[in-house]
Amino acid sequence: MSDSVHFPSFRSTLPSLDAKTVAITGTTSGTGRVAASVAAELGAKVLLLNRSSSRSSESFDAIRRDCPNADVIQIECDLQSFESVRNAAAKIHAECPEGLDVLCNNAGVMALEDKATADGFDVQMQTNHLSHFLLTKELFPLLEQAAEARGDARIVNHSSIARMNPKKVLIADYLEKRGGSLGGNGSSMFFGGARWVRYNQTKLANCAFTAALHQKLQARGSRVKALVAHPGFARTQLQQTTIKDGGMGKRMTGFMMRHMAQSTEDGTMGILSAMFLPSAQSGEFYGPGSGSYAMKGKAEAFALEPFYDNEATRELLWSKSCEAIESTFEI
Ligand SMILES: NC(=O)c1ccc[n+]([C@@H]2O[C@H](COP(=O)([O-])OP(=O)(O)OC[C@H]3O[C@@H](n4cnc5c(N)ncnc54)[C@H](OP(=O)(O)O)[C@@H]3O)[C@@H](O)[C@H]2O)c1
Repeated sequence: MSDSVHFPSFRSTLPSLDAKTVAITGTTSGTGRVAASVAAELGAKVLLLNRSSSRSSESFDAIRRDCPNADVIQIECDLQSFESVRNAAAKIHAECPEGLDVLCNNAGVMALEDKATADGFDVQMQTNHLSHFLLTKELFPLLEQAAEARGDARIVNHSSIARMNPKKVLIADYLEKRGGSLGGNGSSMFFGGARWVRYNQTKLANCAFTAALHQKLQARGSRVKALVAHPGFARTQLQQTTIKDGGMGKRMTGFMMRHMAQSTEDGTMGILSAMFLPSAQSGEFYGPGSGSYAMKGKAEAFALEPFYDNEATRELLWSKSCEAIESTFEI
């Protein structure tokens, strides 16, 4: 935390989470790991949703060591598999008799090879959006239960500056069973490399999902809130995973990380704001600014943006996501 600029003072503004239950995907490193530790320190029961690996067991042990009195539970959830997500959801129902106060759909991968999951979808789209859509659908009754009982429950999605590239238009193909045939392995971040186009579509989908949820929840007068955040450019494992997969060069990335990125903790302020600030409202976006160069700084609230918060994009996102999970999602 030594290079965090804003996090220590921000952290002191967060409320107690006694009697709250929080579920977070992707807590083995990065923003999810920080969010999970903070939630545990603030008194929440915390469900860590990770695929099984040495990283997941080590991070689970570390959180429990740092916060020995916290109620922290590890639940296996591989976002590359709808079956795994459904199994995880069943376990979460058993762990949450009083409902679920916050679901943070944080996990993500970036600029990976053009590969299909076992379910047939692009590995990035299934991990970053489609499995989170399914998880949210499966857990929605628990969120409603918490909102009714305690007046507030939240779904928080994690997007990126990448939502704006290259054309700000969500395209149906990327949400369909076309994994492995979505443009190949071009890795140019700035000149339309297909790995990056697929990533950008997933991060746009995170925002369109939030906009559609917000609109449906408001129309129903629900007390469940839908929010989205982005971390700017934060030093996490995300870039390392991409380098290993061939989606970024090591040298250039190292230079950018040293000179342009902020700490993991500073990058976590967006999701933490959306998850826990008492003042946060449904339909808000938290991050270090709304522009394409908002890479570091305090997380501020801004409005959802018209390029995805419009009827056609919300409807496309919802219908294609339901088609992918082969189910309806009624709010
Ligand atoms: N860092 C940035 O600058 C930046 C910028 C914009 C947006 N974001 C977004 O921030 C979010 C968090 O990423 P991060 O930067 O904190 O990266 P990170 O350190 O790599 O963390 C990503 C997390 O996602 C998990 N994950 C990946 N694939 C998974 C799967 N199939 N099932 C379950 N979990 C899986 C990883 O777990 P494993 O250990 O199992 O791989 C890890 O816990 C992502 O949605 C990312 O798009 C980050």
